[in-house]
Amino acid sequence: MVHPFSHYQQSADLIRSRMGDFTPDIALVLGSGLGFLGDMVEQPVAIPYGDIPHFPRSTAPGHAGRLVLGTLAGKRVAVMQGRMHHYEGWSYEEVSYPVRVLKLIGCETLILTNAAGCVNTAWAPGDIMVISDQIKIFMESPLRGENLAEFGPRFPDMSKMYSPALRALAHESARELGLELREGVYCYFPGPQFETPAEVRLARTLGGDAVGMSTAPEAIVAVHAGMEVLGFSLMTNMGAGILDQPLSGEEVNATAEACREQFSHLVLRCLEKL
Ligand code: HPA
Repeated sequence: MVHPFSHYQQSADLIRSRMGDFTPDIALVLGSGLGFLGDMVEQPVAIPYGDIPHFPRSTAPGHAGRLVLGTLAGKRVAVMQGRMHHYEGWSYEEVSYPVRVLKLIGCETLILTNAAGCVNTAWAPGDIMVISDQIKIFMESPLRGENLAEFGPRFPDMSKMYSPALRALAHESARELGLELREGVYCYFPGPQFETPAEVRLARTLGGDAVGMSTAPEAIVAVHAGMEVLGFSLMTNMGAGILDQPLSGEEVNATAEACREQFSHLVLRCLEKL
């Protein structure tokens, strides 16, 4: 199904009815390990996804499933504590539905975070990558179907998906924190199975530095709607086949937990500087 523009408006109206005079400027989508940032929001108004008409609900473990509005690092934010994934059964339109709603309630900037498999063999688990560009050649676009011109054009330009200015700000933030920040290409795979070693080699051959099962659809919809996008991947494991050991969701979550302090400091510093 293609949601009509009125659905997005109805979702935005419900959120507005709860947030009073407050309007957010920056939206954050929190991936594995970073969910706790949603609990740090000051003067929070939390809205369960289930309260918002037409909103999909996240079912992935470790994803709370609520929108938190308030102040974080001195900025007015809307935080998605929990995101939807295609592998949960949602269409790409549904996965990225919240991004358009966030745009309607005032967010002009979107910060996307995720846990990812590391494809670049010069890097290691625990490294953080600011996303320079993405590859999403698998399956259809979240923009498939009738174009909603209220958001953007039929054929949107994707030549600078991840804002060069925000990437520079991320590097500056990392320098201030004494943290080594990687930069590279996020290669989307739909999952939920981890990639095969051959698929990880494919990603590398195509120019990918990380592989993951989120972020890319949301970024496409955000760019279509004219939002500025900043993306971070936390490398939670080496991509399949790089090390002679099996991958597991437990390993991903354990690394994400172990690195959450550093990862969150970087995101908060970027927020401060925005
Ligand atoms: N592949 C895809 N998604 C992931 C991975 C991976 O290796 N690690 C964390 N998310």
